Amino acid sequence: MDEPIKDQMKALLLTKYGSPTALKVQEIAKPSPKRNEVLIKIHATAVNDYDWSMIRGKPYLYRLMFGILKPKKLIPGMELSGTIEALGPNVTSFKIGDAVYGDISEYGFGTFAEYICINEQAVILKPAEMSFEEAVSIPHAAMLAVQGLRDVGKITQGQKVLINGAGGGVGTFGLQIAKLHDAEVTGVDTGDKLKMMKDIGFDHIIDYQKEDFTKNGVHYDLILDAKTNRSPFAYARSLSPNGTYVTVGGKIGRLLQVLIWNLWISKFKHKKVRLVALKANKGLSYISDLFREGKIKCIIDGPYTLEESAKAIQYFGEGKHQGKVVISIQ
Ligand SMILES: NC(=O)c1ccc[n+]([C@@H]2O[C@H](COP(=O)([O-])OP(=O)(O)OC[C@H]3O[C@@H](n4cnc5c(N)ncnc54)[C@H](OP(=O)(O)O)[C@@H]3O)[C@@H](O)[C@H]2O)c1
Repeated sequence: MDEPIKDQMKALLLTKYGSPTALKVQEIAKPSPKRNEVLIKIHATAVNDYDWSMIRGKPYLYRLMFGILKPKKLIPGMELSGTIEALGPNVTSFKIGDAVYGDISEYGFGTFAEYICINEQAVILKPAEMSFEEAVSIPHAAMLAVQGLRDVGKITQGQKVLINGAGGGVGTFGLQIAKLHDAEVTGVDTGDKLKMMKDIGFDHIIDYQKEDFTKNGVHYDLILDAKTNRSPFAYARSLSPNGTYVTVGGKIGRLLQVLIWNLWISKFKHKKVRLVALKANKGLSYISDLFREGKIKCIIDGPYTLEESAKAIQYFGEGKHQGKVVISIQ
C-alpha cells in the first residue's frame, strides 16, 4: 500500500541561542519546492562545526551570519543524503526517486529534518554503492581535505605530511587522500582517537596533550590543519624548505594571522602558508569515483537518530567523536 502523503514533518528546531541539549524535535509544515528547487526526503545528515557555532551563537562573529540576537535559520544542518520526492517546474537535473547527496550550505541550512526544499544545484547523484550514511559523511569533511591537500597544498608523490586535528572528519579523509599519493602521514590529536588513527593507517601519531609538534624539530613538506591554534610562524618552523602549510579552520584570530602574514612568510622564509575557503561540493565526483573504486572509506560515529541529534551535537562540540557524526533521519 502507498504511504499517505504527509503535510507535516519532524525537524530539530532552533528558537534561541544556547546549549544544543535544549533543542527539541517538533512537527512543522513540510515545504513545497519553488521553481529551481527539489523536495528531498532526507535519509541522513551529519554534524558540523557550523551547527555547533550556529546553535550556541558563538563565536559572536557568527551571529552576523545567523542573526544578532536570535537565530534567523530555524533548523540547523548543511549536509544531507536522501531521495528526490518532488520537483520544482524548472528542475532539469533530477527525476523523482533519484538518490542524492551534498553540502547545501551555498543555498541554505536545515538538514536536521525529514524534508527540505533546496536548489537542484546543491546536490549530486549518490553512487548506488554508497549507503546514505556513508554518503552524508563525505561532502564537507572530504571536500576540505581534497581542496586543502590537492587544490591548495598541491600534494605530490611521497611527501611527508602532517595533519593537525587528525581524528575528526577532515583528518580521516585527509589521511586516505594523502595515502593515494604514497605520503608518509603523521596525525596529531588526543584521547581515544589515537587508537582509531593507528587502525586506519597513520604512520606516526602525536598526542597534542603530550607533545607540541611545532617544537620537536621534525619538518614536513605539507601540513593540513583543521584546528589552527598556533601562530603561522610556529607552523612555518615545522615546514621543510619550500614546504606548505594549509589551514581549513580553527581559531579566528589565528586564521586572521595566516591571512596577514602569508606574503611575508613566502617572501622571507620561502615557505607557503595558505587558507582554504571551502567551495561546496567541488571535488565531490572525484570522491564518488574513489569510493566506487574502493579507495576511500568513511569513518562514521553513529548513526544516531533525529531524537538523539541534540545530544550528538553536544558530543561533537566536546570533541569526543571519531570521524563524522552521522544522524539517520529515516
Ligand atoms: N575553510 C572553510 O571554508 C571551512 C568551512 C567549514 C568548516 N571549516 C573548518 O574546518 C574544520 C573541520 O574539521 P573537522 O570536521 O575535521 O573537525 P572535527 O571533526 O571537530 O576534528 C577536529 C579534531 O581536532 C582535534 N583537536 C582539538 N584540539 C586540538 C589541538 N590543539 N591540536 C590538534 N588537534 C586538536 C579535535 O579533538 P578534541 O577536541 O577531542 O581534542 C578533533 O578530533 C573546522 O575547523 C571548521 O571550522 C572550514
